[in-house]
Amino acid sequence: MSQSQETLSNLLQETRRFAPPADLAESANVKADAYAEADADRPGFWARQAERLSWSKPWDQVLDWSDPPFAKWFVGGELNVAYNCVDRHVEAGNGGKVAFHWEGEPGDTRTLTYGDLQSEVGKAANALLELGVRKGDRVAIYLPMIPELPISMLACARIGATHSVVFGGFSADALRTRIDDAQAKIVITSDGGYRRGKPSALKSTVDEAVTGTPSIEHVLVVRRTGQEVASQERDVWWHDIVERQSDEHAPEPVDAEHPLYILYTSGTTGKPKGILHTTGGYLTQTAYTHHAVFDLKPDTDVYWCSADIGWVTGHSYIVYGPLANGATSVMYEGTPDTPHKGRWWEIIAKYGVSLFYTAPTAIRTFMKWGDDIPAEHDLSSLRVIGSVGEPINPEAYVWYREHIGAGKAPVVDTWWQTETGGIMISPLPGVTEGKPGAAMRPLPGIAADVVDDQGEPVPNGGGGFLVVKEPWPSMLRTIWGDDERYVKTYWSRFEGLYFAGDGAKKDDDGDIWLLGRVDDVMLVSGHNISTTEVESALVSHPKVAEAAVVGATDPLTGQAIVSFVIPRGSAGGDVEGDEFLKELRDHVAKTLGPIAKPRQIMIVPELPKTRSGKIMRRLLRDVAENRSIGDVSTLADGTVMDLISEKLPSAK
Ligand code: WT7
Repeated sequence: MSQSQETLSNLLQETRRFAPPADLAESANVKADAYAEADADRPGFWARQAERLSWSKPWDQVLDWSDPPFAKWFVGGELNVAYNCVDRHVEAGNGGKVAFHWEGEPGDTRTLTYGDLQSEVGKAANALLELGVRKGDRVAIYLPMIPELPISMLACARIGATHSVVFGGFSADALRTRIDDAQAKIVITSDGGYRRGKPSALKSTVDEAVTGTPSIEHVLVVRRTGQEVASQERDVWWHDIVERQSDEHAPEPVDAEHPLYILYTSGTTGKPKGILHTTGGYLTQTAYTHHAVFDLKPDTDVYWCSADIGWVTGHSYIVYGPLANGATSVMYEGTPDTPHKGRWWEIIAKYGVSLFYTAPTAIRTFMKWGDDIPAEHDLSSLRVIGSVGEPINPEAYVWYREHIGAGKAPVVDTWWQTETGGIMISPLPGVTEGKPGAAMRPLPGIAADVVDDQGEPVPNGGGGFLVVKEPWPSMLRTIWGDDERYVKTYWSRFEGLYFAGDGAKKDDDGDIWLLGRVDDVMLVSGHNISTTEVESALVSHPKVAEAAVVGATDPLTGQAIVSFVIPRGSAGGDVEGDEFLKELRDHVAKTLGPIAKPRQIMIVPELPKTRSGKIMRRLLRDVAENRSIGDVSTLADGTVMDLISEKLPSAK
């Protein structure tokens, strides 16, 4: 066996299984036969899914893969995304149906029906045209989680402009780089937004960013908080220009491969990559996967994805997939602990949310806050609960199922990436017998596998690299302006295969477990050990809420395992002393085997995370190797490393 296969993976024995509830299985949108149907004819399968959409011109060819890795889906077809997400539902008599129950952080609310959305998007589209935006132009959007954000995205799609949403927590520098790379013509922003009970400023960041971005002609400003903003000549208030427009606008059909949006991913090194998504294939896969993975019943379900629209999760599963399916969704502006730590559960009870989608980092935070908080709210409406963003530790999965899903709602652990555009690997809630911690198997129509370092599929029980073997409809088409980097980053590690950058294993049943980014795999005394598995072992200890693991250079073992642990809020007794640390080390040894025993465990109050909630192991490696701490500019909370260093005098 090659070294990459020789993981410790199989030592983590997870035997709990959760079958779908009988009624869900009975009435599920997608049943087990979908796998065979798709395997028999993959393009044919996706063509049938594309028929969920309204096309103004039918396609001539489902897939053109004559120039790999540059894919074209639904060649010759034409459609408009905004028409598909809004107008056709109104035309079908659903104009009065709620598209978004929007909840502002201070407690203000707005209800947008599909009819409201149609007139708002129409007005915004006309305003963009008045500002000189044309088909093919790029529009930067830097907004908080307010209704004008999806309205702006749909207005762009309606006129064929390509949007580039930049997360509202990013700095002026980050915004400037993204505006420059896309050569955006206008930027849509707001005075500010509410976060943690306070209005935060956005417009001033835009003012700073657009000095030195010659491509920007106008800044379109939504008034949200009413805070004072400096005004520049290029500024236009949303309420001045949008409100006076006609709400009628004929959506412009575009080619199936027309660029819908660019979304930048930072990656660990180098300049951010502008991931390009196009129209027909993207909308097909986001609509299908939302229907399949959440079992959406548009007439009765209320769906809520807690992500920020600034990330791909929000693009695909707050805006495009749910709206294409005519869903009723909740959209929430703020943070989970404002004004109290039960805010999310209060929202679920208030709107009767039945389908919920969040991230492991949030789930572990709630575990830390304590079981009693969700217990105070009526969560009985929930019937499918999803997870995305990182591997979900088995303990977090079980907690989520028990305390949020009332021990009955299936947990769908969905693996995908900004680059894949839509969900790729996930249980089907009415079919799959779930295993805590496993994303299980590729969805119907998706050909993903785990390969060794030669690109050969590993047998069941083996570990290696996650790849996708066949093109999929919502795949990225390129990196904006850099085809070469696209080929090099994703299609060069293994001949003819898309390399996702994640480590994975196949268990004895052939089900897939994600093990984190390959850069995060440690090599200890010649064994590959996944940071994810050691973290999961630590989190399975009743007194541990969160854990992060890194490999630190070690003269004896090459790399040694160093762990950072946050104790649970409810953990009583001594959670600092040597006794406790020994207990944890022994617990890992017992769970995974002695080779996985951490050399060192540090108790910390917080972990460094990116704004999208991913642990920044690079900074923890600096601590573990006693280096001064590197670039912290992408940290969600810049003070976290100080908190950690204070606790660990040697790491300063
Ligand atoms: C990376 C992509 C996809 C939307 C949010 C993140 C990790 C994502 C899972 C999961 C294990 C996961 C991977 C992937 N990841 N979902 N269910 N299990 N790992 O998008 O920022 O582009 O990150 O997130 O490492 O490569 P992204």
